[in-house]
Amino acid sequence: MAMMFKSTFDESTGWNRYLKEYGAEQEMRVWPDVGRLEDIEYALVWRPEHGDLKRYPNLKVIFSIGAGVDHIFSDPELPKHVPVCRIVDSDLTAQMSEYAIYGVLHYHRKMPGYVRGQQDRAWRKLGISDTTRSHVGVMGIGQIGGDTAKKLAALGFQVSGWSRTPKKLPGIRVFSGEAELRPFLASSQFLVCVLPLTGATRGILNEKTLSLMPKGGYLINMARGAHVVDEDLIKVLDSGHLGGAMLDVFHKEPLDSAHPFWAHPKIIVTPHIAGDLNPRTCGMQVAENILRHRKGEPLKNVVDPAAEY
Ligand code: GLV
Repeated sequence: MAMMFKSTFDESTGWNRYLKEYGAEQEMRVWPDVGRLEDIEYALVWRPEHGDLKRYPNLKVIFSIGAGVDHIFSDPELPKHVPVCRIVDSDLTAQMSEYAIYGVLHYHRKMPGYVRGQQDRAWRKLGISDTTRSHVGVMGIGQIGGDTAKKLAALGFQVSGWSRTPKKLPGIRVFSGEAELRPFLASSQFLVCVLPLTGATRGILNEKTLSLMPKGGYLINMARGAHVVDEDLIKVLDSGHLGGAMLDVFHKEPLDSAHPFWAHPKIIVTPHIAGDLNPRTCGMQVAENILRHRKGEPLKNVVDPAAEY
């Protein structure tokens, strides 16, 4: 039996090195040269081709190369009986939190104004906002968002979270469901998006929702580009309602060189670098699940197919 591998950014050999180290070496078949379809037992994928995963009659587990699984669930022909496992990694979580904290501090400490000051050779002090009166809203408070919220609270910010279902997080005011989205947004001067991308969250950051944020607010999106309606974001930035946006993810990646985000004075673009997968710890997770599967034990980090995260 073999593992089908498809990634747009890394190599099967790197993964197999760690699978081997943790006792689960695989015969890797790198897509599209997958050989006999019947041989494929596992798939380790980032953005599989739509319709591909249903071709393997003996497929037992699909492993996402990533914390997000929207790149798998977007396949309309996904074989629904095959479990999908995602990466839950403490290094990735810590990196993502750093990105959010960096973004919040960048705006909170008025760095865009100081960059302009330096360009003008102007010694312009802009004052310091009171951290304990500054409100950050974290949309999506699972593994990553929960860590981000906790760390921002430790810096002294007033932190709220929003999630689909009610949750409890010590020191964090949690809003949940559609009904509480409005008060959550209304209190978020800094909005950090780390939601999973599902049918329910696609386009959730649009003119209507972004307009609910306090005037002069900032958006940090490190989830998926499709959470944002691009034209609407530009509209609320240009109208002066929002003060800026730091974006790591886009509808189409790499971001097209003609896209207006690149040159927008209120937008910071980064190339999907908020978090990176550590091949050793992630390889260890996949290996552990392979060994569990072999022994008939429950898999870890299985995605709920109904919720798609
Ligand atoms: C990256 O975007 C991931 O889903 O891990």
